[in-house]
Amino acid sequence: MSQIQFDLSNVLADAIGTDHGLTMEELLGEQARCSAALAAIQARRETDLRWLDLPYAQDVLDSILDYAASVGGRFKNIVVLGIGGSALGNTALQSALGSPFHNVEPPPGVARLFVRDNIDPDLVGEFLDHFDPEHTLFNVISKSGGTAETMSQFLIFRARLVEHLGEEGHRDHIVVTTDKENGVLREIVNREGYESFIVPDGVGGRFSVLSPVGLLSSALVGIDVKGLLKGAADMDKRCKNDALMENPALLYALVQHKLHEEKGMPIAVTFPYSHRLANMAAWYAQLLGESIGKRLSKGGEEVFRGPTPVSAVGVTDQHSQVQLYVEGPFDKWFTLMTVGTGDHEVKIPKTPAAFRDLEGVDSLGGRSLRELFRAERDGTRIALTDAKRPNASIHFETITAHTVGQYIYMMELAVALMGEFYDVDAFDQPGVEAGKVAAYALMGRAGFEAERERIEAASCATK
Ligand code: PA5
Repeated sequence: MSQIQFDLSNVLADAIGTDHGLTMEELLGEQARCSAALAAIQARRETDLRWLDLPYAQDVLDSILDYAASVGGRFKNIVVLGIGGSALGNTALQSALGSPFHNVEPPPGVARLFVRDNIDPDLVGEFLDHFDPEHTLFNVISKSGGTAETMSQFLIFRARLVEHLGEEGHRDHIVVTTDKENGVLREIVNREGYESFIVPDGVGGRFSVLSPVGLLSSALVGIDVKGLLKGAADMDKRCKNDALMENPALLYALVQHKLHEEKGMPIAVTFPYSHRLANMAAWYAQLLGESIGKRLSKGGEEVFRGPTPVSAVGVTDQHSQVQLYVEGPFDKWFTLMTVGTGDHEVKIPKTPAAFRDLEGVDSLGGRSLRELFRAERDGTRIALTDAKRPNASIHFETITAHTVGQYIYMMELAVALMGEFYDVDAFDQPGVEAGKVAAYALMGRAGFEAERERIEAASCATK
């Protein structure tokens, strides 16, 4: 089973010069600080950072596999209702490990997967017009059990299910993932008797993809969830080593922090050269942005910290963003995600005789799309390096549940470690909560009257 590899050669001053690149001496000089950061995070494994142990939750895995087997073949559609950390990982896993055309033609007996995180009425209304209650299972996911976007969708789809299947009949079409005792959603589970799974304590939304939050919908559409957890466990073992050059999460976190704070690069671009991994970059954008973007330091001082995550996808964004990346301001660093062997080899036919005098097509004829894809990727890497833009690579020899599990765990741990380097609490999200509170107030929720008055007085509500 292959390990994913983190290559930082093109972040180093040897490749891009000392103005924008880091020296090996600078990095190794941080060993003591890195060891302390790793020890601080690992020390919380048994208390509030329980997500570090998710790869080993065998009983949870068994209950998910049992449930998936019990409903297997019964539903044609699985619909996740959730948002943020309760949705992005589900989409990322499905894109990485399912066919891009899974929903057009699912394998026999396997359901389609829809992750409905946006409540734009034009989207939800269209979905309501098309979904088939008889053959659809909803997985309602909310750790807090009260997020307005998720709960409103729950009410809408529940009503439609009841209308078609009756009070009793609708219950088998809903499975809930939420806190074991807190929140409105848990109360609803208790009243209705829905099947349910637990978001464990010490597992925040954006760190929850390896819990039932991400695993249940994955198992229901045939993703190898056991392989995912095995990959995460293998990365966990690799990252227990505090030697900087042996620990990819530690090294990644340090490079992020140093390029930002010492080389003036606040923008972190994740650039998968893989259609399958495009949504992994979107998942990481939330993990990084929501964890490190903070007003206060750990000591409560106002610092307004945080890198800005951007996601791009190769080759598509070569023709939209790469011009900026190669020639624009020196305010970005890049993580290319590269893949060795793919599932398909697509040959470009030999150039027909009629076009052989046309160099623009003759050099393509008889080659393969993989050769072209690699040439484009390496061309971008060379252009970035020649322009002195720091660019690291995370290499997947193949995209499997095992390598994806490694990547997820590596990035979760890296972001936790960044919290130590940036000196912010990586595990709260007061900015998101502030938006939720304001929305509750605007919707007239009881208990939020004072907030509503404050908003109206400040006239910050828009039509
Ligand atoms: O990472 C987070 O904590 C957030 O993005 C949440 O996942 C998001 O706000 C949804 O919250 P909940 O799962 O409580 O509905």
